[in-house]
Formats: sequence, structure tokens, C-alpha cells
Amino acid sequence: MTIARDRLRVAVQKSGRLAETSLSLLRRAGLSFRASRDRLFLYGENLPIDVLLVRDDDIPGLLMEGSCELGIVGRNVLAEQRLTALPGTDAPAERLALGFGGCRLSLAVTDGGPITVPAQLDGLRIATSYPGLLADWLAVNGIRAEIVVLSGSVEIAPRLGKADAICDLVSSGATLAANQLHELVAILHSEAVLAASPHPLGSAKAEQVERLCARIEGAQSSDGARLLMLQAPRTALAAITRLLPVRESPSVLSLDGLPDDIAVQALCSGALDWQHLEDLKRLGARGLMVLNVERMLA
Ligand code: PRP
Ligand code: ZN
Repeated sequence: MTIARDRLRVAVQKSGRLAETSLSLLRRAGLSFRASRDRLFLYGENLPIDVLLVRDDDIPGLLMEGSCELGIVGRNVLAEQRLTALPGTDAPAERLALGFGGCRLSLAVTDGGPITVPAQLDGLRIATSYPGLLADWLAVNGIRAEIVVLSGSVEIAPRLGKADAICDLVSSGATLAANQLHELVAILHSEAVLAASPHPLGSAKAEQVERLCARIEGAQSSDGARLLMLQAPRTALAAITRLLPVRESPSVLSLDGLPDDIAVQALCSGALDWQHLEDLKRLGARGLMVLNVERMLA
């Protein structure tokens, strides 16, 4: 029997590459939490949205069984789930790409070892937590290797004599370097995504999901967003617009008593440094002002 839950649950990696940024994204979306004693459950204080801290590999399963409505997980974990799920089961769907946690799933071998190209893996053993993705890649590339499935600490398998190569996630490369391994080839590129349970939601929860998604998108787009304000001769508008890293058409306002002049407000992404401002000034812009954007809602 399932017990009805009113509150939305979001599964997040407990520790690892995505853990910290996932939680800070939820905080930037306006959620605040109180941690349980064991620190595995974060109770949402200001919205009916709680966070479950788990192993990233468990997130697809939690979404599929409906224990969580949403999860922040690498696209690689979802892709693996899709390849290894029993036929006929509904896989979790990707709702939003989150733009952090960029990494790749790569084949790696021991530094100074005999293997220099993937074809040499034929007949050898490869340790991985991603048997589905690895088997798929091996089949496509016509390489027959034995897959040794490990749930963690894959990087120490060659040293323990359990495998001749590994297939694991690489982000900074620090883990490989620390274990005297190097990449042979990347088989998948990935980033963190917001994944949703395949189970249909009641209207109240569906509304919470939409709200959270809109807020996350807002938090993402206000990242690095700047509002530029300036005044300029009307004739300089096109040249000014061309110089701006604008996201959408700028607002142009007329100025009281100055028919030949305009005020411009432009939402810009990325750097607006002194050089930018000086170039704009050269086109006749004055009263330039750059403001950080705190929040955005499309
Ligand atoms: C991955 C991978 C490595 C590490 C690589 O772990 O298994 O341990 O990240 O990152 P690096 O190149 O920056 O050193 P992840 O955080 O996904 O956790 P898990 O393997 O324990 O699930
Ligand atoms: Zn993992």
C-alpha cells in the first residue's frame, strides 16, 4: 500500500560531484531547508518541497517507484537506466538541463601501460558502474571485452588486478590522475539534469513541479545576467545594440524634452567590462549603468 504524500520530494546526490551545486540551485530557487538528525532528509521550511539525499545511482529507481517526484542527476545515470531497465517499464524523463556538473564517461587505462587505443581492449576486462552504456559502445565499436560491474571505487580496480581498464565519469580528471590512470576515449558527454518521475501527479503536486521548474529556470537565467542602462542619440541605437551581448531586444524609451535622444535598457549575459562601456561611450552613449540581476521569472 502506498501512503499518500502531499509534499513534493526531490532526490539529490548525497555526496559527490553534483551534491553541493544541486542544493545551492534549490536554495537559489527560493527553497529553505531544515536537516533531519541523520542529515539524509531536508525538510522544506517555506514550501511543501522536501529533499532526500541519496546515492546518485539510486535516483532513477526512486523516481520509477514514485518515492520521489523529481531528482537532480547526471544525464549519464538516466541514460544507463534506460539501457538496463526491464522492457515495458517507464523510465524517468528529463525535464530541464541544469548547465552544471559537466562530465564525460570515458575509458581509462593505467599510465605507462600497454594499452594505447580502444581496439586493444578486445578480450580484456573493463570495470564500470555503467554496464549498459559501456556494452552499447563496445558493440557499436566491435570490441569484445568482459564487463566487470562495480558499484563504486571503480578507479582502483586496475590496481587490485580486477580489471585491465575502467569506464568511469571524468570531470576535472583529478580522480584518474590520483590513481595513475589516463583517458583513452570519451563515450558519452553529460551534465546535471532535473528528472521527473514517470508516474502521473495530482494537480497540487503538478503545480508545485511547474512552479519549481519556473523558479529553477529563473535562477539559471539570472546567473551572470546584467541589466545595462544608458542614454544615447537615437541614431546610435543600431550600433550600440550590435556591441551588446544582449539576450533579447532592448527596451527603448523616449526622454522628456529630448526628442533626438533615447534611454536604453538591455538585459545582457556575460561580461560587461570597462572596455565594453568605453566602446559604447565612443558611440555617444552616456550615463551608463550596469546592474546585477537578482531574480528573473519568464
Ligand atoms: C565521479 C567518478 C569519479 C569522479 C570524477 O563520481 O566516479 O569518482 O566523479 O571526477 P573528477 O574527474 O573531477 O575527479 P560521482 O560524483 O558521480 O559519484 P559516484 O561515482 O560516487 O556515484
Ligand atoms: Zn554514482
